[in-house]
Amino acid sequence: MNILITGGAGFIGSHVVRLFVNRYPDYYIVNMDKLTYAGNLANLADVEDKPNYSFVRADICDFETVMGVLKEHHIEGIIHLAAESHVDRSIRDPFSFAQTNVMGTLSLLQAARNYWESLPEGYEGKRFYHISTDEVYGALDFDNSFFTEDTKYDPHSPYSASKAASDHFVRAFHDTYGMPTIVTNCSNNYGPYQFPEKLIPLFINNIRQGKSLPVYGKGENVRDWLYVEDHARAIDLIFHKGRIADTYNIGGFNEWRNIDLIKVIIATVDRLLGNAEGTSLSLISYVTDRPGHDLRYAIDSTKLKEELGWEPSLQFEEGIERTVRWYLDNEEWMRQVTSGDYRRYYEEMYSNRQ
Ligand code: NAD
Ligand code: DAU
Repeated sequence: MNILITGGAGFIGSHVVRLFVNRYPDYYIVNMDKLTYAGNLANLADVEDKPNYSFVRADICDFETVMGVLKEHHIEGIIHLAAESHVDRSIRDPFSFAQTNVMGTLSLLQAARNYWESLPEGYEGKRFYHISTDEVYGALDFDNSFFTEDTKYDPHSPYSASKAASDHFVRAFHDTYGMPTIVTNCSNNYGPYQFPEKLIPLFINNIRQGKSLPVYGKGENVRDWLYVEDHARAIDLIFHKGRIADTYNIGGFNEWRNIDLIKVIIATVDRLLGNAEGTSLSLISYVTDRPGHDLRYAIDSTKLKEELGWEPSLQFEEGIERTVRWYLDNEEWMRQVTSGDYRRYYEEMYSNRQ
């Protein structure tokens, strides 16, 4: 198969690209990424020379370029991860979220439609797999309820509103044109290569540097955490075995109040750095809450388990230990992404590929 993965230089996308390139030597994987601040080709240094992989720097909103790539590489499957992904940024700049997440997804859908409908076999053997988020479902109370695939959409942030709109467009392309689409909605991911604006890598880095840890509100909001490689495995399974036109929720049944999670991170970093227990607790600083801050997310992934046999492979304690170790061991990666040196790195990489 020839597969286009969008957003492959980002956090989750880089794990998906790595999994597909290594696991399927007979597939050809094209990674299309605009390389925004969140895209970093250093995340893929170990696969960049593989014969079944190539990188195209492009904006998914650029319809002509997307069309050209689909035709040139005879793309049969699309796994769409490219997005603006950070809620706080969406509050400051909602337009760029509508642009990439809504218009970009539409551009990709329309290009796929034009290309696949022009082939003699049409949509036969094709797949458009859209990666979405649990945030489209809104927020839960502290009442043991879960988001299921039937939960009504109720997005609250510009980020989740833009993702919800993109999910609707994907489903509309199935219902209107018969495009073979799949949508999955996943909970919070954690693991290596996550941009340090997100809670876990930000806090690990701040603890290492003795900087304060900005806890929004009272730290009582709850998130459901999944190790990123388990999400990538689920994507692999659903891409190959998922039912067309269906939706699957992906999550780890692993809820943590932010403040409890933060204490686990502090304890782990302190231990691995050889600090006395509790050293970094004093870095906690309660700050003004995020506007519209969703109280609780919790995914029910029973359908995925029962229909396709997927379960998270990693216990949270092991996942967080691995994650903290990775960020502490990869100080240079962290230094580059926080200093902006990585931009120079990928500008050089990109010019080498022209
Ligand atoms: P990320 O911000 O780390 O990476 C996004 C990638 O998309 C970057 O490489 C960026 O350069 C690229 N990109 C952005 N705009 C683009 C454009 N216009 N054209 C081409 N490329 C563009 O994001 P992530 O955390 O890896 O999330 C990936 C996907 O998974 C997103 O669709 C997100 O909504 C979804 N998701 C994320 C989580 C999570 O916890 N991180 C959970 C559920 C779903
Ligand atoms: O649920 C899936 C979503 O998870 C994805 O769709 C998003 O792309 C991803 O960014 C993530 O969204 P969150 O807003 O939940 O993640 P974030 O890491 O920004 O924040 C996690 C929680 O921690 C949230 O309740 C806000 C809080 N927080 C975050 C930051 C960055 C803080 O208290 N302080 C902080 O500095």
